[in-house]
Amino acid sequence: MAQINDNFIKIPATYLFSEIAKRVTQHKEAHPEAKVIRMGIGDVSLPLPDASVDAMIKAAEEQRHAATFRGYGPEQGYAFLREAIVINDFTSKGINITADEIFVSDGAKSDTGNIGDIFSVNNRVAITDPSYPVYVDTNAMGGRAGEPNEQNVWSNLVYLPCNVQNNFVPALPTEKVDIIYLCYPNNPTGTTLTKEQLAVWVKYAKENDAIILFDAAYEAFITEENVPHSIYEIEGAQEVAIEFRSFSKTAGFTGTRCGYTVVPKALMGNSENGENVSLNKLWNRRHTTKFNGTSYVVQRAAEATFSPEGKQQVRALIDFYTENARIIREGLIKAGYNVYGGVNAPYIWTKAPEGLGSWEYFDYLLKEKNIVTTPGAGFGLSGEGFVRFSAFGSREDTIEAMERLNK
Ligand code: MLT
Repeated sequence: MAQINDNFIKIPATYLFSEIAKRVTQHKEAHPEAKVIRMGIGDVSLPLPDASVDAMIKAAEEQRHAATFRGYGPEQGYAFLREAIVINDFTSKGINITADEIFVSDGAKSDTGNIGDIFSVNNRVAITDPSYPVYVDTNAMGGRAGEPNEQNVWSNLVYLPCNVQNNFVPALPTEKVDIIYLCYPNNPTGTTLTKEQLAVWVKYAKENDAIILFDAAYEAFITEENVPHSIYEIEGAQEVAIEFRSFSKTAGFTGTRCGYTVVPKALMGNSENGENVSLNKLWNRRHTTKFNGTSYVVQRAAEATFSPEGKQQVRALIDFYTENARIIREGLIKAGYNVYGGVNAPYIWTKAPEGLGSWEYFDYLLKEKNIVTTPGAGFGLSGEGFVRFSAFGSREDTIEAMERLNK
């Protein structure tokens, strides 16, 4: 019999959001009359921008004719999209990134999960706590996390607590780490780092030969000055950081699937025998071998988000969810909760009433208020005692949820 990768039996049997979906389905089966409001997983509710849909229709039409049909595309993404990304997301902000440093994919979830392929199992990994569960789970699958205890704290991971006491700003590790996951604006807390605070991490990475894996999937929600949209706004970051971006939350692509990863050519890793190796080359090798490209039609849809009308439509989507976030924040504060985040991010991190654990409060909200949230403990030990509200619902549902909580 074939031997399995034993790391898979060490991780929780179900992925966080699958567990939540299961509980919601059970609740709905038991109470078919209940009007359940979904504020759990960060899945968008508004349709795609017209510019993207029009671009997909045009691209699909091209696929109907031999003269314009396209088969396999470049695994790294078509030049038209990579160049549009460079111009709109980087050059326009004074950041010097080139198209061959961009790798288009089916989303940031896959890339943040797969990036571990190019790193040795011996690296010491630091993860902010709480964090997006993909970081911990995929390091555990890859054998880099060690052993879990009964609270799912892994022996080889270095946890960087983010809590009310430190204003959700992680302290630098006190032991040497090689890889650091940072996600800002943060999922799940919805909090941010200023440029100065992020610069501290870039300096740490330089001085300690560490690599930062920077998840910027929520950058479009930033409303305040001095909050960096890209880690490359910090001088020298191209020598120490990989950045992940997504069209999912920005332009409603959660079901359409498109994202990209920036691996600067200046970024190096060490081989076992001490050689300096380009991470851009390694990721290119991994991507071309294990990924066959995002579909042409979807890449055209992503490109269209950068057209003048596409930009306006995307802005309208972001503004809509930002207003939802404001309604949630204010509604929760009115109802007496302590809330964090939700100003530069579509997530509102909320303290459960005293004495209630995250899952207990999640269950209470589901059963008594028919509101789905995400239990903070699902994101790590420091998330215990919190739940996360997502601002991606409809306006009607958002207002109704706050009315239910204020009753
Ligand atoms: C979340 O709710 O944390 C995200 O939507 C999950 C994801 O992007 O995969």
